Amino acid sequence: MISGYLILLIVFDKSKSVQKQGVKYDISKKNLYNQGVFVLTSHKDSKQTKNMLHSKIAGIGFYVPEKVVTNHDLMKVMDTTDEWIQERSGIKERRYGKKGVETPTTMGAAATKIACERAGISPEEIDFIVFATLSPDYYFPGCGVLLQRELGITHKEMGALDIRNQCSGFIYALSVADQFIKAGMYKNVLVVGSEMHSMGLDFTTRGRNVAVLFGDGAGAVVLQPTTEEGKGILTTHLHSDGTHAEELALISPGSHGGYHLGAEQFGFPDVEYGEIFVYDNLLENKTYYPNMNGQLVFKTAVTKFPEVIMEALNKTGYTPADIDMLVPHQANLRIAQFVQKTLRLPDEKVYNNIMKYGNTTAASIPIALCEAWEAGKIKEGDLVCLAAFGSGFTWGSALIRW
Ligand code: ACO
Repeated sequence: MISGYLILLIVFDKSKSVQKQGVKYDISKKNLYNQGVFVLTSHKDSKQTKNMLHSKIAGIGFYVPEKVVTNHDLMKVMDTTDEWIQERSGIKERRYGKKGVETPTTMGAAATKIACERAGISPEEIDFIVFATLSPDYYFPGCGVLLQRELGITHKEMGALDIRNQCSGFIYALSVADQFIKAGMYKNVLVVGSEMHSMGLDFTTRGRNVAVLFGDGAGAVVLQPTTEEGKGILTTHLHSDGTHAEELALISPGSHGGYHLGAEQFGFPDVEYGEIFVYDNLLENKTYYPNMNGQLVFKTAVTKFPEVIMEALNKTGYTPADIDMLVPHQANLRIAQFVQKTLRLPDEKVYNNIMKYGNTTAASIPIALCEAWEAGKIKEGDLVCLAAFGSGFTWGSALIRW
């Protein structure tokens, strides 16, 4: 039912572009992939309109802390095994930042400096910051302004926006930045994804299903306008469904007062105001950690990833075979492998590095993208697809001609 609805929407959308761009589409049995994902195949590239502003990635950088934490290190503090972690997630090790020295802001700054250098600009030339993280330095203000200060951009009152879309954070941030560029509003927009998970995980056996998956790090890109046809960001697609908001979440501390799940289970003090955001029971029972329904996340992710990738391909007139490199959010190697199989992509067209960094949430895509590019696996002219799924649930994709 949902797939049918999606198809109708795409067909409707495409019927408009047929007239404009002379693109032909067909829905054939051959293009019905497993997982119930329907594919609309287009036969011609839908090129960006001549002289229209769009965004290109002018510079990219990433930073990960020095400290390597292996699965064997985690086995010393909780009841887990290297075998369990590798088999379920593919992760062998991850990085943890240094307390009081490294934060999402400082790691974001380190990645930014590299991205700026590669873009041929100084940080002072950044016009706008979009910062995605679920593990900010402060509850508020967000990391955007902290990064501005960290970079020493004090001579101008630029804008800074914080994105809270967890694993999809970087795609959401990239899409927002892309709109600013397309609208002609800014020349240099910085997009950062950065996470410091290690400060907020439950490292006892109780938290093992979540704690073993995550790592720290940051990635950044500088977006600039270009009018070069068929180059840069071709399309972005963002989605959400709040039905399962609590299935992958950090619920308290927060201002919910028990509204969504019923107050009984939280043990709030009997007061009307105050002491409800952070309350005694929360501290005593240590229920301030993230929780995850792993199996629901897995099942939904393996459907939504291919769907949203196909949405980007259909919009631009490409097929999975046209992708030179897929960089999926590094949630879990098993999820990425499932997506690869669904789209029938060979190994060399999917970049994974979760084995050495774990899931770095909003940072995972820019870290992987940068690493793939540095390794020469992404070259000028390549068609690069980014896709993410995560808490919310939210998901999204971006297609880039490098
Ligand atoms: N070490 C050893 N045993 C563990 C661990 C651990 N770290 N964690 C859980 N277990 C145990 C459980 O207690 C359970 O034991 P039981 O059978 O005695 O009750 C058993 O392993 C199986 O637990 P499940 O949660 O059912 O394990 P599952 O096979 O589903 O794997 C996992 C868990 C890896 C989280 C999986 O569900 C998954 O990959 N889900 C996708 C979620 C994901 O990738 N999240 C990443 C973050 S979200 C994002 O970025 C999209």
